[in-house]
Amino acid sequence: MHRNYVLAILIFCLMILCVACTDTETVKPEALKQYESDKNETVELTQVSLIQNDFIVYFVNCAAGKVTEADAGDIMGLYQSVTDQRYGEDSGTGMLWGYQEKSYMAADGDLNSLNKLDTKWVIKEGTDIIPEETGFYYDFSVPPGEYEVICGFYDPFSARPVSVRAEDEQVIVDQKILKYKLTQTSFLQQVSDGVLNLLIYNPSSGDEVMKDPVLSYIIIRAVPDYDEGLLSNLIDTASFDDTELEEYTTASKERYQTAYREAKITLRKADPSRQDYKNSYLKLKEVYDTMIKKPYYTTFRPGQVWKDTEDNLIQAHGGQVQRLTVKEKHTGKMVEKWWWVGEDKTQGCRGGICAYSSDDLYNWTFEGVVMRNVSSRKQLEEEEYFKKLYADYTSEQLDKVYTCINDSTSIIERPKMIYCKETGQYVIWFHADGPTKSNHSNYAAASAGVAVSDTPYGPFRFINRYRLNTCPEDQEDKYPKSKGMARDMNLFVDDDGTAYIIYSSEENLTLYISKLNFSYTYLAADPKEAVYGVDFIRIFPGAQREAPAVFKRNGKYYMMTSGCTGWAPNPAKMFMSDSMLGTWVDKGDPCIDDTKRTTFDSQSTCIFLADEEKKIYVYMGDRWNNENLADSRYLWLPLNFDEEGNASLTYTNEWKLP
Ligand code: GAL
Repeated sequence: MHRNYVLAILIFCLMILCVACTDTETVKPEALKQYESDKNETVELTQVSLIQNDFIVYFVNCAAGKVTEADAGDIMGLYQSVTDQRYGEDSGTGMLWGYQEKSYMAADGDLNSLNKLDTKWVIKEGTDIIPEETGFYYDFSVPPGEYEVICGFYDPFSARPVSVRAEDEQVIVDQKILKYKLTQTSFLQQVSDGVLNLLIYNPSSGDEVMKDPVLSYIIIRAVPDYDEGLLSNLIDTASFDDTELEEYTTASKERYQTAYREAKITLRKADPSRQDYKNSYLKLKEVYDTMIKKPYYTTFRPGQVWKDTEDNLIQAHGGQVQRLTVKEKHTGKMVEKWWWVGEDKTQGCRGGICAYSSDDLYNWTFEGVVMRNVSSRKQLEEEEYFKKLYADYTSEQLDKVYTCINDSTSIIERPKMIYCKETGQYVIWFHADGPTKSNHSNYAAASAGVAVSDTPYGPFRFINRYRLNTCPEDQEDKYPKSKGMARDMNLFVDDDGTAYIIYSSEENLTLYISKLNFSYTYLAADPKEAVYGVDFIRIFPGAQREAPAVFKRNGKYYMMTSGCTGWAPNPAKMFMSDSMLGTWVDKGDPCIDDTKRTTFDSQSTCIFLADEEKKIYVYMGDRWNNENLADSRYLWLPLNFDEEGNASLTYTNEWKLP
């Protein structure tokens, strides 16, 4: 009875093979659809599942244990349920496939890893290699047709050649694989007998262990017949409605829409060629497979990766957040938005100024580089953007622009933006630094730069950079060598509209607060005429504080600052005063349980009112990554206040606005 059953199956298989043998060339999805394994089980492959699986019918993660899934980036084949097995029936699909077990084969690596580079077949030490014979034999049952076979070799031991035979023909000869380098080789193979046979071996053989063959993975893809049916099936499979599409980044969405439109055009063409179908198919598939969803946040996660809605790291370091009424670009409507400006560090330590907008403070849309820096003096007169922006500038003024905001020597740090009601302009001040004629240090200029724009979107036109107020003669200048220095800075606009610039001066030893003029574009009084206590003050001379973040709460003024240790964090200090140019009192380190005394590994840059009703003030700090400044993190925490109005800061991993 049992024997008869086996015989019946064998006859059935032979019949299928005979029918199949008459089929030629590429694999018709129909053939794959109804392919019967010799256990007479049906492996149903629809064209849609093939499309979704990128036509991968086998993915062998060589020598892995009973691994049943592929690592991200790999796809399990449709005919398998484990990533490797000894030749036999696959318990999940019923297909016959696997390696022929040989006594000289040894599994190597982390055998339960999903990663195809973590495991491989090697040859046991002491094996007598028989040329052209000792190697790894794999057989895969597949419907007749054309297949793309990809073999991957990752060898940490030493460089060596490998060869591959398929269907008893030599297809790859002496492929050199290098030490610690992934080598992939691929070839197209016709299969007419229902089984694809592979042998992977080392042609040079010999008795040297370091020359033995290794094998990390095999991928077998059916070569599809790119025709009208396949392309329209992909169009149906890879389609989104408008709401679904909105979940993806604008870049993904636009790429997708272009590829989709092109695919439709191909279908409508009078007489498209196979190549037209193929091009449209591959483009749409590639775009569809690489669509990126917009990150969506509902909490603040201090110190974690924070991306904008285009999935890029937010570049607004040393920045500032405020509430603004802006003209929405696509609707033209005036809307309230949160606005974040800061340093663009994508080009390393020198970059322009970026802006981001948000409705909820968690999710930020990139609004562009609002103040660009320049690569050459020529660019200012040749590139449309700069030509228009600086149309009224004299040649000397353009020289100055180039000196102050070029991308090879200029430093543009800690930008802060304020709106001037008097002029209707947005004004950005920033720490403008760089070498000078007499001093080649990166931070020699020690100046405050100013730029203006009619909109918060920019482009901001750079006006100039200045040294600011100087120590009065009757006071002790902590750095008399260099007058009027201005480095880490911030801005504050009081309720009466008076604006102040707060900055480190006297070689970062003394903080200054200086009043700005009516247009916020320069000091209220020229440094030569400025009156101490009226136009400016110095606070805590010699205390060496920087990174000032000023805010006002219940009529009191607060200033959080850091010490001066470059990119490395240090303990914060909070100062309080009854007026901007009044007496500031040192309130000590506001951080609670900050065991390392590093302001929770951050440096202050801004404190803003996030919820007017609930009076929630948010501390914004930078966790600088000195090795890669663009990859620095942000640390936002809510401030706590006691009954006397003293501020404190506690750390929390994740939080949201109430
Ligand atoms: C920090 C300062 C930063 C940057 C850095 C350069 O102290 O806060 O804005 O200037 O030094 O080392």
